[in-house]
Amino acid sequence: MIVCPGSFDPITSGHLDVVRRAAALFGDVAVAVAHNPAKTYLFPIEQRVDLARRALAEEGILGVRVDPVEGLLVDYCEEIGARTIVKGLRGSSDFLGEETMARMNRHISGIETVFVLADPAFSHVASSYVKEIAIHGRDVRGLVADVVAEALAERLGGTL
Ligand code: PNS
Repeated sequence: MIVCPGSFDPITSGHLDVVRRAAALFGDVAVAVAHNPAKTYLFPIEQRVDLARRALAEEGILGVRVDPVEGLLVDYCEEIGARTIVKGLRGSSDFLGEETMARMNRHISGIETVFVLADPAFSHVASSYVKEIAIHGRDVRGLVADVVAEALAERLGGTL
């Protein structure tokens, strides 16, 4: 079992591609939807989990568990018996943010982080951009699963 973690606010087509490739490489995947009470999210944790499940189903990525994680990611990994975290990197700036986290997670638990390079088709796709585009009423289909595009339109009062 490996873990693909993130805020998933909301899950994007780039995230889905990483989960699909992680499943092909490593088999069983758990998607960990992190919740930090100090952060503000567009979607509450229950909805981020629900949208991740429905987006995975829409993409035909089956057999992946999705759980909310409120504490440390490595505690969740240990609870479910995962020894590896898999994350996507869109570019070198992503790596800068991930490097110390991966080292710290390994330091405190021995759990390794493996990085996969984002497909160039998704290397510009970020949840923050998707939200900004949706807030201003533009169509985000293709950047996210249809179920997520619908949830964004509903949450932000837009139309599809
Ligand atoms: O999608 P994001 O926001 O880039 O994901 C970051 C995330 C959720 C993977 C990271 O913040 C995380 O692992 N949070 C869980 C809490 C934790 O374990 N923090 C210690 C990191 S050393």
